[in-house]
Amino acid sequence: MKFFTLLPLAVLACAGSSLAGSAQPDYQQLFAEREVDSPAHFLERRQQGIGGAGGNGPGYQTVPSVPFDGNDSLPYSPSFYPTPQTQGTTQKWKDAIGKAREYLQQFNQTEKVILTTGSGWTRGPCVGNISPIPRVNFPGLCLMDGPAGVRGIDRVTSFPDAITVAASFDRDLMYKRAHAMGEEFKTKGANIWLGPMMNLARSPEGGRSWEGFGADPYLSGEGSYFSVLGAQDAGVQANLKHYINNEQEHFRNEGSSNLDARTERELYQHPFMRGIQAGAASTMCSYNLLNNSWACQNSELLNNRLKTELQFPGYVLSDWGAQHAGVATANAGLDMTMPGDITCCSRQEGSLWGGNLTMAVNNGSVESTRLDDMATRILAGWFLLGQDQGYPEPNFNFFDKKDPATNQFVDATADHYKVAREVASAGTVLLKNHRNALPLNKPRTMAVVGSDAGPLYQGANYWPDRAQNGGLPYGTLGQGWGSGSTDYSYFFSPYESLQARARKDRTDMQWNFDDYNIAQSVMIANMTDVALVFVSAESGEGYIIVDNNEGDRNNLTLWNQGEQLIRNVTAVNNNTVVIVHSVGAVDMESFAENPNVTAIVWANLPGSESGRALVDVLYGDFNPSGRLPYTIGKNRTDYSADVLYYNDTVTPQINYTEKLNIDYRHFDAKNIEPRYEFGYGLSYTKFDYSGAWTQQVGHADNSWWGSSNASTGLPDWLFQPKYEVTFSLTNSGSCDGHEVWQAYLEFPRSAGEPPKVLRNFGREKICKGDTKEVKFTLSQYDVSYWCNELQQWIQPEGKFKVVIGASSRDIRQAVVLN
Ligand SMILES: *[C@@H]1O[C@H](CO)[C@@H](O)[C@H](O)[C@H]1NC(C)=O
Ligand SMILES: *[C@@H]1O[C@H](CO)[C@@H](O)[C@H](O)[C@H]1NC(C)=O
Ligand SMILES: *[C@@H]1O[C@H](CO)[C@@H](O)[C@H](O)[C@H]1NC(C)=O
Ligand SMILES: *[C@@H]1O[C@H](CO)[C@@H](O)[C@H](O)[C@H]1NC(C)=O
Ligand SMILES: *[C@@H]1O[C@H](CO)[C@@H](O)[C@H](O)[C@H]1NC(C)=O
Ligand SMILES: *[C@@H]1O[C@H](CO)[C@@H](O)[C@H](O)[C@H]1NC(C)=O
Ligand SMILES: *[C@@H]1O[C@H](CO)[C@@H](O)[C@H](O)[C@H]1NC(C)=O
Ligand SMILES: *[C@@H]1O[C@H](CO)[C@@H](O)[C@H](O)[C@H]1NC(C)=O
Ligand SMILES: *[C@@H]1O[C@H](CO)[C@@H](O)[C@H](O)[C@H]1NC(C)=O
Ligand SMILES: *[C@@H]1O[C@H](CO)[C@@H](O)[C@H](O)[C@H]1NC(C)=O
Ligand SMILES: *[C@@H]1O[C@H](CO)[C@@H](O)[C@H](O)[C@H]1NC(C)=O
Ligand SMILES: *[C@@H]1O[C@H](CO)[C@@H](O)[C@H](O)[C@H]1NC(C)=O
Repeated sequence: MKFFTLLPLAVLACAGSSLAGSAQPDYQQLFAEREVDSPAHFLERRQQGIGGAGGNGPGYQTVPSVPFDGNDSLPYSPSFYPTPQTQGTTQKWKDAIGKAREYLQQFNQTEKVILTTGSGWTRGPCVGNISPIPRVNFPGLCLMDGPAGVRGIDRVTSFPDAITVAASFDRDLMYKRAHAMGEEFKTKGANIWLGPMMNLARSPEGGRSWEGFGADPYLSGEGSYFSVLGAQDAGVQANLKHYINNEQEHFRNEGSSNLDARTERELYQHPFMRGIQAGAASTMCSYNLLNNSWACQNSELLNNRLKTELQFPGYVLSDWGAQHAGVATANAGLDMTMPGDITCCSRQEGSLWGGNLTMAVNNGSVESTRLDDMATRILAGWFLLGQDQGYPEPNFNFFDKKDPATNQFVDATADHYKVAREVASAGTVLLKNHRNALPLNKPRTMAVVGSDAGPLYQGANYWPDRAQNGGLPYGTLGQGWGSGSTDYSYFFSPYESLQARARKDRTDMQWNFDDYNIAQSVMIANMTDVALVFVSAESGEGYIIVDNNEGDRNNLTLWNQGEQLIRNVTAVNNNTVVIVHSVGAVDMESFAENPNVTAIVWANLPGSESGRALVDVLYGDFNPSGRLPYTIGKNRTDYSADVLYYNDTVTPQINYTEKLNIDYRHFDAKNIEPRYEFGYGLSYTKFDYSGAWTQQVGHADNSWWGSSNASTGLPDWLFQPKYEVTFSLTNSGSCDGHEVWQAYLEFPRSAGEPPKVLRNFGREKICKGDTKEVKFTLSQYDVSYWCNELQQWIQPEGKFKVVIGASSRDIRQAVVLN
């Protein structure tokens, strides 16, 4: 009987003491062994103004000089000069640019330069600052991380990460999440939201993939579009990042991503195009090189693709420390340097711009028209969002959270918990559900085990930038680590919310959060009606190394011996529900088919509302509809791309040799059976698909394709609807719910496309017994591919097929386009 004392509860009430059990590892010893940066050391370094911004971290050395441009044996980027003057494609942009040009006439040359050059690390309240210019009444600009909420300060919401809203496959939720977030940035006085992030999950190990929308360009594109709309409707400037091909953290400051023009256009550039179509005010160029030329001084990328082809009217700012030259960046199309210092991130004197840019303009290395264009683009973003009209000034201090002189502790959270909670539930994916294990129905007895179920026992923000306990058990995983994380103002762990619910149902609930005391977990899980096992896998940004993971994961297994915990619990409990919080795919082969694992719930990264959102799903108050935004393979070697971990040159070559075939495109092309495919997810009810048909709409003829129009930029006609597809969805199950449908396009063989590519999706609410007619269109662009030889979008001859279903492999309807 002595096992059922209240010991764990007493420990929880007693903050600061260590977790229960004599099998508790000696953390001091483990830190020493693993050479983990301690939180105290980390904070000290931030206060000294070193690190912690997302710049260079331990183990990173930025290559000191510009490497080669045009080494014959390596890929290189062609030159494209000069930078086009901003014009604006919509009336809103044209008006903003007009106001910017007029206002700029009041600025002298020094003041124009101030607009372009960050004031320097720690010189201002925000992670990036443009100084005020009192003479012309310009209040300055405040730039803040991160893509899931305001970073590093108090009284904000930690929203579910982008990978979670991607799993909802719901544009409306993408919009609402970003709108709520945008309101928080505005309330705090931040002008620029450093998001959305839209680098693709090219390989499952990629450290920052969770900051983005997964492995598919179309899904990411919609994530980008609706996030930009939502945030900008709330008044904050969006920032499209990281442009481009920052898909891994190893060598992020010195690796060259090498890929051909078609792969770039069809996969990685697509979400940026969508963000620009939504009117994004700014874009961030990335740390890495592209074809051996730094992304922030690559004139083909910035001057040509971004500002000419995509007609981006806004400004390009550098990732923190991603600028490596003064004149070359200015002429290649960079408009703002962040944080302004020569390297990131410590307080320094001098900048590659600032006085140096003035000198370059004066001596003719940079045209004065280029400086005017930089300043115009920056001011245009400010006018576009109406930030010239009474926008709040920053009322916090990122560098000293508790400073009473600078922090007004303004509450920004409003009722945003509602959308945060809804997104977290809608982004939860039910992967397995046998013997009606879920939803739970007043179980008599329940065990809850795994550190991933528990509260963050050292305090929610003990580990700066969520570098969870150096990889040791700490508490449930709510976010990845790095500059893309937020400090928690509050946090509902699964344990807390389950306890509240269990009490309501009079369920006897026992728990153990010590992953290394398996005997205790086995003891409490033995003979209970249901056992909930919580496991996790983490990754983050490369300036923090967690358990030897330099941002990117070293493996695809669970952390803290999750597999072993599942194995031991299932040995004594035939109704084990596994809940996974993860940054991306993990190897599930050791437990996915175990008959005692009756259900698997993929909870992604839910943020502050973790527990409440999960309980809603587990108990059926929220009927799950989430879908995987990437493929979960059976073996790491099944994926087409992995992170490049080792270098034999100073500029490691990250070759995207898999080209168009990432994620499900590759699994389909090579006919590899995944564990759970892209787009997969279950519901408590059942949906039938029927009656698909299609018709041509809009312009039926293809005459434009032959005209010169097809090769210049992205003309409007390319995006006009060409086909309309209609089908019906029926809820034939026993409860109300949402169905996420997906439409994939099969190109004619001659196009050289993967077997199928996502072209549309939707999340429909359908009550039981009801049928809903669903319509969507495909544009000229949707049925085109990028031809490398002709450098334009091409519509291939031959038969197109649209297949519609509940996942990329659960196809229910098909229509041929004529
Ligand atoms: C090109 O790069 C390769 C590999 O780094 C190097 O061996 C070679 O000498 C370089 N060639 C030139 C012309 O710089
Ligand atoms: C990179 O090089 C490839 C050829 O190796 C080319 O197709 C592509 O357009 C280049 N991209 C850029 C941005 O220079
Ligand atoms: C521009 O104005 C600033 C005041 O904002 C002044 O300090 C500076 O000397 C002026 N520079 C030039 C070149 O006139
Ligand atoms: C100009 O750049 C150099 C490094 O190239 C730096 O040492 C110097 O401080 C910079 N000057 C200014 C005024 O920022
Ligand atoms: C856990 O399972 C392993 C075999 O996988 C076994 O050796 C060990 O005794 C089990 N531990 C407990 C506490 O049941
Ligand atoms: C599970 O509980 C039953 C009933 O008390 C007991 O006989 C059995 O030994 C227990 N199994 C384990 C592994 O503790
Ligand atoms: C699961 O185990 C319980 C005893 O804990 C037993 O009553 C039940 O029949 C088992 N169910 C299955 C499907 O094996
Ligand atoms: C995978 O990495 C995690 C985190 O570093 C570690 O806990 C785990 O032991 C590793 N798995 C294997 C099989 O090495
Ligand atoms: C499933 O659970 C039962 C106990 O309910 C156990 O006897 C059996 O060995 C377990 N099966 C597996 C595959 O672990
Ligand atoms: C994964 O693939 C590798 C290489 O094909 C193979 O050696 C290994 O046995 C596979 N692992 C499993 C668990 O199938
Ligand atoms: C590998 O990259 C590191 C920087 O990350 C650099 O210091 C080292 O010299 C490189 N190795 C070789 C062999 O070039
Ligand atoms: C990448 O491709 C280049 C040639 O374009 C080659 O020199 C280099 O070895 C390749 N790198 C890797 C890591 O495969």
